[in-house]
Amino acid sequence: MDRTLVIVKPDGVERRLSGEIVARLERKGLSLVAAELRLISREVAQVHYQEHEGKPFFASLVDFITRSPALIMVVEGPENTFKVVRTLMGATNPTDAAPGTIRGDLGIEMTENLIHGSDSPEAAAREISLFFPGLS
Ligand code: RTP
Ligand code: MG
Repeated sequence: MDRTLVIVKPDGVERRLSGEIVARLERKGLSLVAAELRLISREVAQVHYQEHEGKPFFASLVDFITRSPALIMVVEGPENTFKVVRTLMGATNPTDAAPGTIRGDLGIEMTENLIHGSDSPEAAAREISLFFPGLS
């Protein structure tokens, strides 16, 4: 089985859409391996989004992801799980995200785009060990 990291971002938890988002992942055929509602620290947020360090939106991205608790999850599927999740998520900007996707159906603003999913198998491995270091 193949695993990836998913986060229901603070806006999704605040809007009480955690259940809706988890249901979409489960209906697709993915299984939860770990899940925790947690306030992400600024230190962890900066490591998590290190690829964006130096970009103009970096500070507001860290502010956003740390503003209230997020639902951090490891999900599992037969193969290419990161890609399955990214397809369900839709495009980064909810304005461009197709209907039927999480961002396309539920979001309208760029930063407040509800869900994070690792963007490669390497990112999945790095992010799973960042958020769930004890997970075997
Ligand atoms: P994420 O990492 O959160 O799953 O989103 P993503 O892969 O679809 O997009 P990514 O390029 O990794 O960007 C991370 C988050 O930064 C915000 N962003 N703002 N203003 C901008 O140009 C801009 N670009 C990216 C978004 O909130 C995006 O989710
Ligand atoms: Mg990304």
